[in-house]
Amino acid sequence: MRVLVTGGAGFIGSNYVRKVLGGAYPGFEPDELVVLDKFTYAGNRANLAPVEQDARLRIAVGDICDPAVVKQEMPGTDVVVHFAAESHVDRSIAGSAEFVMTNVVGTQTLLQAALECDVPRFVHVSTDEVYGSIDHGSWPEDHPLAPNSPYAASKASSDLLARAFHTTHGLNVSITRCSNNYGPYQYPEKVIPLFVTNLIDGLSVPLYGDGGNIRDWLHVDDHCRGIQLVVEGGRAGEVYNIGGGTELTNRELTERLLKATGRNESAIRRVTDRKGHDRRYSVDIAKITRELGYQPQVDIETGLAETVEWYQRNRRWWEPLKNC
Ligand SMILES: NC(=O)c1ccc[n+]([C@@H]2O[C@H](COP(=O)([O-])OP(=O)(O)OC[C@H]3O[C@@H](n4cnc5c(N)ncnc54)[C@H](O)[C@@H]3O)[C@@H](O)[C@H]2O)c1
Repeated sequence: MRVLVTGGAGFIGSNYVRKVLGGAYPGFEPDELVVLDKFTYAGNRANLAPVEQDARLRIAVGDICDPAVVKQEMPGTDVVVHFAAESHVDRSIAGSAEFVMTNVVGTQTLLQAALECDVPRFVHVSTDEVYGSIDHGSWPEDHPLAPNSPYAASKASSDLLARAFHTTHGLNVSITRCSNNYGPYQYPEKVIPLFVTNLIDGLSVPLYGDGGNIRDWLHVDDHCRGIQLVVEGGRAGEVYNIGGGTELTNRELTERLLKATGRNESAIRRVTDRKGHDRRYSVDIAKITRELGYQPQVDIETGLAETVEWYQRNRRWWEPLKNC
């Protein structure tokens, strides 16, 4: 079996690659796993260091928007797991062209090549941010899409393309929509690694607005476990929400990180709220639970403690990224 993982050098994609090659998903043992990654600022070979000696791993440096590259890597593939994306909301507010290019055009390029090469399975990794913001309750998968940031809008567009390739062409594609992830190897522009590494260094942490925005935090291992359930058992043309971590306001999250790093509230620096900042995300995970037996396994206490410890032990990984 040959598996093509796009964006496999990023935070979540590399976790998935390490898990697959590490035997975390018994019965799913590829003969070859190809990581197709452009190595943007977010792609990092060090994320694959624990598996770089594995003879089944091949790293292809290339852009998913380039049909020649994609046509070269796609033939013979049994499963595509598509993580590659521009993923940082703040960057999409500063400039959205790259987001439309990679997230929309790149996804279309992959879907088209998968169709032409008769790839039997394609999983498109998306986000709960495509639903917009919800004050009460949780979104089921058939909730209308109302993305608010250019990042979320570009992901929603790619979801619709994936769906259309199933409806029009019968491509065996499923879509996952996950809540906020945390864990090791997350680029230190995202809130948890940014705050943890600032706190370790005795710096302040920038808290947006009133700190009341709510996110459902899920450990990256649980996200990848959910993706794998969808890879193996998800139905074609279907969307699966993945979440069920712990809802925290940004203020509550910050307090936990302050405690874990031995700092106090004086480290908090209030900054002007993010433009169009979604107040709350919450996905209903009844479908993936019922159909595929998904349940998150990492509780937030343990997951956050281990994550903070990882950044404390791995300064060599994050220090060069903070300084660039
Ligand atoms: N981080 C989260 O909390 C979260 C939550 C839900 C869904 N997601 C989705 O999961 C996926 C992975 O997110 P992440 O946090 O690991 O992102 P990331 O930014 O850490 O990694 C993205 C990877 O894609 C690669 N890439 C970017 N543009 C490319 C291109 N044009 N061609 C080839 N490779 C390219 C980068 O080099 C990098 O390795 C994304 O699709 C994202 O939308 C993320």
